[in-house]
Amino acid sequence: MGATDQPGPRPVVLSVGGSVILSADSASDAPYLTELADVLREFGRTTPLAVTTGGGRIAREYIRLGRLLGLTEVELDEVGIAVTRIHARLLAARIGPPTPLTPAVTTEQAAHELHRASPVVLGGTEPGHTTDGVAAMLAVRLRAARLVNATSVAGLYDHDPRTHPDAQRRERLGWEEFRAIVHESAGEHAGQEFVFDRFGADQLRRAGIPLAIVDGRDLPNLRKALAGKPFLGTSVE
Ligand code: UTP
Repeated sequence: MGATDQPGPRPVVLSVGGSVILSADSASDAPYLTELADVLREFGRTTPLAVTTGGGRIAREYIRLGRLLGLTEVELDEVGIAVTRIHARLLAARIGPPTPLTPAVTTEQAAHELHRASPVVLGGTEPGHTTDGVAAMLAVRLRAARLVNATSVAGLYDHDPRTHPDAQRRERLGWEEFRAIVHESAGEHAGQEFVFDRFGADQLRRAGIPLAIVDGRDLPNLRKALAGKPFLGTSVE
């Protein structure tokens, strides 16, 4: 029986932000990714798990360079996608078999691969959204139990916690409010940073798939969020 066929646990999708993979403190990246790979391998053994990886600051640097070179927005998105796929390769290789080393290029291909192997890891797919959007599309396609968004902050705050020490975390909010926040904050240009992909938020809301936003570097907490247990962060339902 395939990994996404019934019966058995419903698939789970995880979107790992690029800033979680490549942090400001690069010495911690290798030990962190080693442990993350262990967590994903173990969780993916019992639950079909699809993971997307973001491009982070390296993607943004190349997009900035490309913009100076006069590339179009579509070409810049393609540069970003290429970087997200490097991150997918790094994580997939560390997880090891049966995870395919070459990242799927469409959500359809990723869903197909998940019938044979779990976890599967992929980067971006096509221009116009981010890897959060890819994760959301995949979650809809797989009828996932939840989408976990692993970011560099511990959830959704009323202000940016990196610049506002008194920022308050929202523990739970509904789709309408989340959607309004995302639409207010999201930009449309390649390489922009925002809370969650606008298109992805719309996809999840329409399909009624819950979203959990957590600090990706807190692995015990990430594991709880993946398993659908109470976690520290923000729930959108
Ligand atoms: P990311 O998913 O990394 O976007 O893709 P991000 O918002 O910078 O997220 P973090 O900071 O890593 O969490 C990087 C860029 O690659 C292009 C977009 O330009 C995006 O901003 N991209 C990515 C696409 O065009 N399509 C995709 O499917 C994925």
